[in-house]
Amino acid sequence: MKSVILTGFMGTGKSSVGKFLAGKLGCGYYDLDSMIVADVGMSINDIFACHGEQHFRLLEKKAIDNLSSAGCCVISTGGGAVIDPENRRRLRAAGTVINLTASAEAIRDRLKDETDRPLLKDGKSLEKIAAMLAERESFYADADMRIDTVGKTVDDVAAEILHFLEEEGRT
Ligand code: S3P
Repeated sequence: MKSVILTGFMGTGKSSVGKFLAGKLGCGYYDLDSMIVADVGMSINDIFACHGEQHFRLLEKKAIDNLSSAGCCVISTGGGAVIDPENRRRLRAAGTVINLTASAEAIRDRLKDETDRPLLKDGKSLEKIAAMLAERESFYADADMRIDTVGKTVDDVAAEILHFLEEEGRT
């Protein structure tokens, strides 16, 4: 089976769905952000604060370069990983790309108590989230399948992905 790569905005459930799905498929699970944090020995907040977003994007790109050679697994990407065209190309080449979506309202509600999203540290207004979603829409649309996660459990979303993989003969 090819790897499954989850993309999507912050708060769309990539990590929870990824872990659950990997368990169902019986394969390894990798979280790109966690790999960066482990590698650098700093939190995402600290990387942004000390070195800036551009530096984080370089680390993200390096992590994606390394992933392409990984065997079959489920990979959750950070919300901005798909902005870079080379990253998108590599992720598409690495496996089946599933994009998780949610409305700006749902994302705001899901992230309201979170403090580990440096790009939203100055506020999580609906306008801000909606503007970022609109800016990134064409990048998220570059996927084999898109799933609206609003009103669904992790189990529901994973079941939709499994169904898609089976139907497409990708398992
Ligand atoms: C980011 C999303 C975050 C993390 C970083 C930047 C983004 O990951 O990579 O804060 O640009 O959307 P999650 O989507 O896992 O929150």
